[in-house]
Amino acid sequence: MKVTVVGAGAVGASCAEYIAIKNFASEVVIVDIKEGFAEGKAMDLMQTASLNGFDTKIVGTTGDYTKTAGTDVAVITSGIPRKPGMTREELIGINAGIVKSVSESLIEHSPNVIIIVVSNPMDTMTYLTHKVTGLPKNRIIGMGGALDSARFKYRLSEALECPTSDVDGMVIGGHSDTGMIPLTRLATRNSVRVSEFLSEERLDKVAQDTMVGGATLTKLLGTSAWYAPGAAVSSMVHAIACDQKKIFPCSTYLEGEYGLNDICIGVPVIIGKNGIEKIVDINLSDAEKEKLANSAAAVTKTNGLLEL
Ligand code: LAC
Repeated sequence: MKVTVVGAGAVGASCAEYIAIKNFASEVVIVDIKEGFAEGKAMDLMQTASLNGFDTKIVGTTGDYTKTAGTDVAVITSGIPRKPGMTREELIGINAGIVKSVSESLIEHSPNVIIIVVSNPMDTMTYLTHKVTGLPKNRIIGMGGALDSARFKYRLSEALECPTSDVDGMVIGGHSDTGMIPLTRLATRNSVRVSEFLSEERLDKVAQDTMVGGATLTKLLGTSAWYAPGAAVSSMVHAIACDQKKIFPCSTYLEGEYGLNDICIGVPVIIGKNGIEKIVDINLSDAEKEKLANSAAAVTKTNGLLEL
């Protein structure tokens, strides 16, 4: 399995690191436009190989996409991250141009590639990639829900005062401060509904904290987060590499599922060797359906800012 990570910033580097440490890929190519930056990150990471015990070869390149030829899975993290107080949607102007040219360069050298989009505003960047590449929809996946669900589980574990391994939960909808839908109704602690342990008010607070999870970190760090985004991407790449058929909520192109059309937004999907192998249409409550419709309306509005 050859993986390319475009963007050697904090998210790209952390993603490459987690992929290497999990030791399932033969090669990770890191691409960046800043002279020498990807080469430096790759060399630094390679010097952890003997310490961390992985055999993955990590290579860096300043914009030479010939080095990415034959990539099975590519992760696009390039673009500018948000600063404190900014929304993900405000990044659209600059990031749309970058994501378009990156996805075209990737496909030129790896026509069979599966692309995971991380750049923000992620749902719109996933939609853009879908439109400009014309790749089959199973091969374009937006990373948002896997991260937001990890943040949801963290907040649930905090409220329940238990380890995260004891909780399960999922966030669907748009990857934005107002568009995320943490499915508190379905979340469990070791198969018991969390509503057995937590009041409605406490669960509302968990949901609220989850939705602004990225913004909270941006405020603390001065830029957007990288460990959990990198780990979330690496889990998805792992699921493809090992054909795991795991369910992740991911941004995917919808054609009627959940009553939505011509949009990429987070819903549960099965991930395996073909990328998105199936969209899982779960039964939502009326309130959840309404939230998803509102979230979709906001994503569609942002998509309208694209010059397609
Ligand atoms: C975040 C970015 C990756 O939520 O969107 O941290």
